[in-house]
Amino acid sequence: MIVVIDGPAGSGKSSTARAVAGRLEIQFLDSGALYRVATLIYLKAEKNKELFFELLKENKISFHFQDGTFIVYLNDTNVSDEIRTMEVSEHVSEVAAMPEVRSYVNILMHKAVEKNVYVADGRDLGTAVFPDAALKFFMVADLETRAQRRLAELQAKGSTASLEEVMKNIAARDEIDSSRSADPLKQADDAIEIDTSALSFEEQVSIICDQIKPLIAS
Ligand code: DC
Repeated sequence: MIVVIDGPAGSGKSSTARAVAGRLEIQFLDSGALYRVATLIYLKAEKNKELFFELLKENKISFHFQDGTFIVYLNDTNVSDEIRTMEVSEHVSEVAAMPEVRSYVNILMHKAVEKNVYVADGRDLGTAVFPDAALKFFMVADLETRAQRRLAELQAKGSTASLEEVMKNIAARDEIDSSRSADPLKQADDAIEIDTSALSFEEQVSIICDQIKPLIAS
């Protein structure tokens, strides 16, 4: 069974999905992290698309959720920190817009959710990847709130990026993610919208957990 949480960058979907998974003892899948690993490969290929697609086939991306942390590997190397740099953030929307990359990541995700109960976060999970998901949420928040959250995450990792830079990056990603032709960021008709601008983290986690609990129990 899969529950999906989609929304724009910084809407809080990833940290919320992780907390929901921890509280309900189910699996968490961070689809954005998989696009970020693909972006690492793209940067290693020095943005040469032909070489990138070759390397994407040759390299192995794998992941698991353990002790509340989503860990991603490129071959045998844990790249969970490397995928969060500004350089990766600046190129990830470009890479995620490539249909070849989207089908590669979609296959990885479908294989993973064959077993177990999952909560996954992304952009197009409720519309393109898992249209039959058991429950769909769409999280939104205003741009400044989203940028403040992302900035706090970056600062905790020692980055000196400014609020202005982060706001620009998020606004640019919103634009690319929503206007790309391959599976754009879009709210599914049957998704429950949650505006997190004025909600505490605890509140947003509880709203989602309360809706999932009856499904797990049945
Ligand atoms: O959630 P995130 O910021 O780590 O996601 C990184 C990028 O990946 C984001 O800019 C858009 C892309 N993405 C996507 O296109 N589809 C998804 N299901 C998840 C992420």
